[in-house]
Amino acid sequence: MAKIETEQIFIELNSPEWKIDGDFAGKDIISVEQLSRESIEKVLNVADWLQNLDPREAKHILENRSVAVLFYQPSTRTYMSFLLAGSKLGANTHGVHDMTYSSAYKGESIEDTMKTIEAMGFDAVCMRHPDDDSGLVAARSVAMPIISGGSGKLEHPTQALLDVRTIIKETNGKRPGELHIAFVGDLKYGRTVHSLSKLMAQMGTPLQTFVSPDNLKMPRSLVTQLENSGVATYETAKLDEVLGDADVIYMTRVQKEWFDSEEEYQRAALAYRITEDSMRLMRPDAVLMHPLPRVGEIDPAVDSDPRAAYFREVNNGVYTRMALLSLVILNNYVS
Ligand code: NCD
Repeated sequence: MAKIETEQIFIELNSPEWKIDGDFAGKDIISVEQLSRESIEKVLNVADWLQNLDPREAKHILENRSVAVLFYQPSTRTYMSFLLAGSKLGANTHGVHDMTYSSAYKGESIEDTMKTIEAMGFDAVCMRHPDDDSGLVAARSVAMPIISGGSGKLEHPTQALLDVRTIIKETNGKRPGELHIAFVGDLKYGRTVHSLSKLMAQMGTPLQTFVSPDNLKMPRSLVTQLENSGVATYETAKLDEVLGDADVIYMTRVQKEWFDSEEEYQRAALAYRITEDSMRLMRPDAVLMHPLPRVGEIDPAVDSDPRAAYFREVNNGVYTRMALLSLVILNNYVS
């Protein structure tokens, strides 16, 4: 099957059919561009509500429902947190991770796999796949909601939502509209950055700085899109320039899997590393984030610094994914 061009994917996802304006029932979550401000607020509110709910009550929300978690790429956090989110809501939750044991290995298309899962009676699928268009292809093929857990290099909408939840919780009452966020590392291939930069723009964040080596800069079209939506952007290769100013430092891993050769990867790897010295340069109220896994970008010695938020970020993800599952399956989440 011919791949769908990036521009085409976003034209389609911005059409009324895919937009989510507060009503999530039966909807697919493929891109943050689908979400209105009201929808984003709803996810955040439902996540907070679920976190405070008696776990015995939460267990009834998706009782007798089934959730499939299908990952065609490596994952620890996203995969396990979808599984945990489904089971905390009482759904029958089934995961397939190593796709060498699935029919994909025999050459089955995404469409046929989704139709098969729908035919069994599953209520939703959470899927990660290396193709940029995989989320859209899956969503087009069935009525059952698809939640993307990462589509190639393009988008990682659930990570962006849990990141926004983390940013709001960690910035001590500041509004997203007052923040300066700095994204650091592999901004070319990093799908978490692509989704979060757009989501922060939707939340009104006025300033975004992009720190990367020259060969790993943000896609030009995305920088233009952010600028057009009113964000001031600044690009640099020097982390020290922004460390003392940014409210949020969002570190990322250099995405080895997309490089053509080990040599090319080695040239880009470890361009930036946060150490105890870097922490001394950061604001006392700054927040240090990372979608994880880290492979050297953050010295574990800084983990005990209260500004290091990456493990709390993981915890926020469980409730964010619980919110998304209950919303796309039921919408009226209050039991
Ligand atoms: C990220 C991903 O898969 O895009 N991981 C995650 O979901 N937390 C980031 C990465 O792999 O570097």
